[in-house]
Amino acid sequence: MSRIPLIAGNWKMNKTMGEAEKLAAGIVDAERPDDIEVALCPPFVSLPAVRATVEGSPVATGAQNCHWETSGAYTGEVAAPMLVGLADYVIIGHSERRQYFGETDETVNRKAHAILAAGLRPIICIGESLAQNQAGETGAVVSSQTRAAFAGLTAAQAATCVVAYEPIWAIGTGLTATGPDANAVCAEHVRAVLADLFGAETASAIRILYGGSVKPGNTAEFAAQPDIDGALVGGASLSVGDFVGIITAWASAG
Ligand code: PGA
Repeated sequence: MSRIPLIAGNWKMNKTMGEAEKLAAGIVDAERPDDIEVALCPPFVSLPAVRATVEGSPVATGAQNCHWETSGAYTGEVAAPMLVGLADYVIIGHSERRQYFGETDETVNRKAHAILAAGLRPIICIGESLAQNQAGETGAVVSSQTRAAFAGLTAAQAATCVVAYEPIWAIGTGLTATGPDANAVCAEHVRAVLADLFGAETASAIRILYGGSVKPGNTAEFAAQPDIDGALVGGASLSVGDFVGIITAWASAG
């Protein structure tokens, strides 16, 4: 099963609305290979502007979070149905949300159900901490996060999800897992778990991204791996040159 690579830019809490529009326009206008899917994930407030900017182009958009309820007294939150028409994807379970905002395996799973019910596609982030990595717990942590995130989904729903394997120690640090190490985690502790839950055919349809200090210069190493189907990019997604460099490098190496 051939999976179309996805390069998603997680802009985190960066860019004003005007800056976001400009960055999106730069990416839309840049010469890009057309066999790579691209998604831009700005802060909520910039989603309408970014969505308008990418309209008519193949570039997709994503939100960085949502609530698991469809509406209600949850001050400051955004529900999945509110993102319909603005976002194709919703990132959930990012390690920064797990660390600073109390995201748990259980809320990630509830959010995955809510996103799919709204007709959108979750990008489910998982990954081990440095201490877990050093204690040899990577496989156990990643498989249990995968199982928890996908609990109760049908195979048809699971097939539309994206997983982002992001070792926490590699996010924003300049450190990366090696391509072969990241591939082994994606194959043995993500795709194998998905095959166990939903069958081999569904598991082979699900895209698994690598995330953590991906830059144009190290992209080829990840693109060459059979079980890595794209990248979730933080810092380097904030510059047109770096982000398009990653997309181009993926296309030539993958
Ligand atoms: P980074 O962030 O590319 O800046 O390491 C990746 C992420 O957090 O998704």
